[in-house]
Amino acid sequence: VDPRLDLISKSIRVVPDFPKAGIQFQDVTTILLNPEAFQATTDLLVEHYRDQHIDVVAGFEARGLIFGAPLALALKVPFVPLRKPGKLPGTRSATVSVEYKTEYSVDKIEMHIGAVKEGQRVLLVDDLIATGGTLVAGAELVRKVGAIPVEAACVIELPELEGRSKLDGLPLFVLVEKAGI
Ligand code: PRP
Ligand code: MG
Repeated sequence: VDPRLDLISKSIRVVPDFPKAGIQFQDVTTILLNPEAFQATTDLLVEHYRDQHIDVVAGFEARGLIFGAPLALALKVPFVPLRKPGKLPGTRSATVSVEYKTEYSVDKIEMHIGAVKEGQRVLLVDDLIATGGTLVAGAELVRKVGAIPVEAACVIELPELEGRSKLDGLPLFVLVEKAGI
């Protein structure tokens, strides 16, 4: 096993009962405190996607922005933020949106029209997959503008929630699996 995976796994802090009782929150901000761990996360994703002809990296607010941006830079492709409602300046006219359910809420994500172009191969990036709702919504956003969601990448997967099975054929690449939530 690549020792970098162990470093990343150990760098994730588990916070009990956040944001609600019973949720074991997987805090990836502790990866960011260690440049070696943050670099390892980016490098492993770059190594996986270098030859996959990715045209665009799209990252989910909030933590998908943190992991997606350095990956896009390293792959030398555009980075597109997928944001919570009302945050993008084009909100009044120039966005597409999709509603979705998360582990503990109903939410919505938006993307600027024109940021992803028809036919482009898009990689979706987030910190974590739980129920899979966020990634499914992101794939739908990408399809709405005529582009192709080719794969999703997350730092951590919570396998008990079986989000992977909801992705409807979208391949998922994860660095770390967390059991016992
Ligand atoms: C968390 C996490 C993922 C999503 C995973 O984000 O960062 O984006 O939930 O859950 P799912 O697989 O069930 O959709 P959250 O919606 O809490 O918002 P945040 O990233 O803005 O804090
Ligand atoms: Mg999130």
